[in-house]
Amino acid sequence: MTSTATRPRGGRARAAIAAKTLRTDRWWLAPLITVIGLGAWVTYATVRVFMHRDYWVPQYHYLTPFYSPCVTERCVEGSSHFGSFLPGWWIIPDAALTLPFLLLFRLTCYYYRKAYYRSFWLSPPACAVPDGHKSYSGETRFPLLGQNLHRYFFYAAAIISLINTWDAIYAFHSPKGFGFGLGNVILLVNVVMLWAYTISCHSCRHIIGGRLKHFSAHPVRYKAWTFVSKLNVRHMQLAWITLGTLALTDFYVMAVAAGWFNDLRFIN
Ligand code: FES
Repeated sequence: MTSTATRPRGGRARAAIAAKTLRTDRWWLAPLITVIGLGAWVTYATVRVFMHRDYWVPQYHYLTPFYSPCVTERCVEGSSHFGSFLPGWWIIPDAALTLPFLLLFRLTCYYYRKAYYRSFWLSPPACAVPDGHKSYSGETRFPLLGQNLHRYFFYAAAIISLINTWDAIYAFHSPKGFGFGLGNVILLVNVVMLWAYTISCHSCRHIIGGRLKHFSAHPVRYKAWTFVSKLNVRHMQLAWITLGTLALTDFYVMAVAAGWFNDLRFIN
């Protein structure tokens, strides 16, 4: 490794370092874990979305979030809470109305952007590690310019969280009447976590508390902003937790729907 001082035109002296990076710790571990985690989740979700089966438990009204709301002609009886008006072609997901928006919401999320820029695009892979690309245009050009649409996807995600909330409430009412099982607990935990992730969004924080000159003149918005800010510092954790709860919820509903095991019932 050689190190000499250079003085760029109009700038301060910088060290000219031949080594790719001076970091000696395992800086590559975090990007690697991200690639494995996100890769595994996307693979699981893609397989499940195109299975077109085992997403609805008629005895307990459990509907997996990957099929909510179910809107194709293929949807099994009872699973379509908002009508089934799209053709049942294999390529069309049964939740075709919501999945694209959820995907775009997560793809444009500030945290996920950092995660996949670093791990998949190596741009840059870690602090003080050079970019894997020669040029860098940031998010100033198409298609990354579209990342600015995140705030609009937030509104769509909030509506979808409402739909998931309805699914969780509806699941307490089985054809036999009020019922309560482990599936309800899982659906409920998932929906609470989804709300926490959605509300902790940076766009949400700005919508609630941004563009104000004086918080003292807006005490309610200040309180809401304070609450959202507390969640916001956990946004990364919530991003991962919700991937976990979504997959777990889907897997549980699939397992019960497929008859691999019975739902653990506490009431009815
Ligand atoms: Fe992550 Fe908005 S910043 S969901």
